[in-house]
Amino acid sequence: MSTRIAIFVSGGGSNARVMIDRFQAHPEDGVEVVLLVSNKATAGALTVAAERGLPSLVVKRSEWASGTELLGALEHYAVDLIVLAGFLWLIPGYLVAAFPDRIVNIHPALLPQYGGKGMYGRHVHQAVKAAGESETGITVHYVNENYDEGDIIYQAAVRLDPDDSPEKIAERVLRLEHANYWRVVRRLVQSGLRPRQ
Ligand code: GRF
Repeated sequence: MSTRIAIFVSGGGSNARVMIDRFQAHPEDGVEVVLLVSNKATAGALTVAAERGLPSLVVKRSEWASGTELLGALEHYAVDLIVLAGFLWLIPGYLVAAFPDRIVNIHPALLPQYGGKGMYGRHVHQAVKAAGESETGITVHYVNENYDEGDIIYQAAVRLDPDDSPEKIAERVLRLEHANYWRVVRRLVQSGLRPRQ
């Protein structure tokens, strides 16, 4: 039986696209993407989902506080694991409680550095550049109620050239994400999700 995942996005959703395509093409991986959740009605990932016949849900700020509709959808699609891929809203307590150790996120830097509130997208890469780092990377971690603080599952680093612009850094990091995020999710699923408390 496959593990059923929901992917949460806020934007372009290139990680979501890579993951959907991988798992649709490889059912032997044992991971099935069953729902896409977006907090933006204009997110490019919604088109990706529609093109691939994947159901999606757009959550509104007003609904986020209680989560009734969201929790209903996650139950309806029998979601086992939530995968955040560029999802920018803080995950509320009710969701962490409903999915303990079953929410993972990818952060475009080597946590605990360059994480926390406001550290997303180009802000991360600009900070890495400003600090003159010789490497950066990606971190996949469990999600709790604070930004970027859950236990780390996986990290990979990439070397930077001194003249790399923040845009170039972003490109290198995104490439690393595409190569690794789905593998980490597959490994997590195949090695068994942490037992529910
Ligand atoms: C990625 O860099 C991810 O690490 C961060 O948001 C970005 C999402 O990119 N959390 P995309 O929407 O998957 O293209």
